[in-house]
Amino acid sequence: MKKNSSLLKCISCGKEYRFSEIRFTCTCGSLLDVVHNLEELKKSFSLSRKFFEERQFKINGQPAGGVWRFKELVLPEIAEEKIISKQEGNTRLYRSKKISQWLSVENLFLKHEGENPTGSFKDRGMTVAVTQAKTLNVKAVTCASTGNTSASLAAYASEAEMAGLVLIPKGNVAVGKISQALAYGAKTLVVNGDFDVCMELVRNAQEKLNAYPLNSINPFRLEGQKTIIWETLMQLGWKVPDWFVFPGGNLGNTSAFGKALREFQQLGFIDRMPRFAVIQARGASPFYEAFKNGFENLIPQKAETIATAIRIGNPANYSKAVRSLQWTNGIVESVSDEEILEAKAHVDSAGIGAEPSSCATVAGIRKLVENGTLKYNETVVGILTGNILKDPQIIVDYHLKNHHALANPLVEIEASLDALRNILELQE
Ligand code: F0G
Repeated sequence: MKKNSSLLKCISCGKEYRFSEIRFTCTCGSLLDVVHNLEELKKSFSLSRKFFEERQFKINGQPAGGVWRFKELVLPEIAEEKIISKQEGNTRLYRSKKISQWLSVENLFLKHEGENPTGSFKDRGMTVAVTQAKTLNVKAVTCASTGNTSASLAAYASEAEMAGLVLIPKGNVAVGKISQALAYGAKTLVVNGDFDVCMELVRNAQEKLNAYPLNSINPFRLEGQKTIIWETLMQLGWKVPDWFVFPGGNLGNTSAFGKALREFQQLGFIDRMPRFAVIQARGASPFYEAFKNGFENLIPQKAETIATAIRIGNPANYSKAVRSLQWTNGIVESVSDEEILEAKAHVDSAGIGAEPSSCATVAGIRKLVENGTLKYNETVVGILTGNILKDPQIIVDYHLKNHHALANPLVEIEASLDALRNILELQE
């Protein structure tokens, strides 16, 4: 390996490819990792915890945000003027007394990735993958999406002046996300099939039509998503939490998060690994089922859940995700749609709010506390992956239609002070 040079490497057979090669799987069929020469990078840039904490990196005169703060460990050789960024990251790490109490977890932190520029964690990966695509002179980018990737792709493709083409499953994408893809100007194709069908189409389009995919099979996406973990560690004063809990769909985050921790461990920035708990919706839980059979095999499912972002039956990053769980002594849990909705009502009414699949995180924490896996005094970081406004329909239905225990129904009143007084008296 040349000094400081990064490359692509097969996670199964170890075959190496040039960094600039447009390729997403090895000749053996397995996924590729971006591999950096960590020791060399550490030496040449004097990388340390302090280096990243004190970083004052600017792009176009603007603060670089939470992804490019870690540039040397993301895309070390990129020239600053080539970076396509919207100051992603630097998201809040919330504490909430109400949610902590409901979950019986004293040291709970919720990292809100819904506060990224297009409202989900996808922006962290998209800034890196679109920057790489631009340096490779790619003219058109594509993705299969349950919604958030398409919203993010649309915004970044617009900024990079590339044609964006997104494939979404018919009838199962939240209205906020479709609105974004349309508004930012991507060619939005509604496919008669589910996410897994769209994903297969995108893979074929890459091979046969040379369309450059920005799904998480693109290893540069994962390089950006690593920074969710690094930023959290920084926010926690480098104290490694006991658990990271987050939802699993296509398993890009699971893969990226494991790589992030592994790299920080290799660099000597952390001295122990936290544990992962990946949460899936019960109707879309192939990873959970595989976990239960000791990862002997992945059996694809026909996915169904109200958490449409994670309505995925054949996760593309399965093998990388298994590796992450091995590195972190991780576990997988599944939760029902009812449990997701209940958790969402708690997250929302605490004034934080997140989309349904994000709230699978919180439903998962509750379940893992109840079955004794998570302990009251452990430090738990839950990742909220998407913004509350992505899926407004599910909120309206919850509060107005189905008489849920935590529903907060609309109240119609006459336009009079008396009517208002009656309501105020009822509140006291
Ligand atoms: N949470 C949200 C809000 C998502 O949009 C996704 C995935 C996930 C969790 C699951 O993350 O795939 O890394 O395991 N959304 C993709 C999309 C599939 O097309 O927007 P993962």
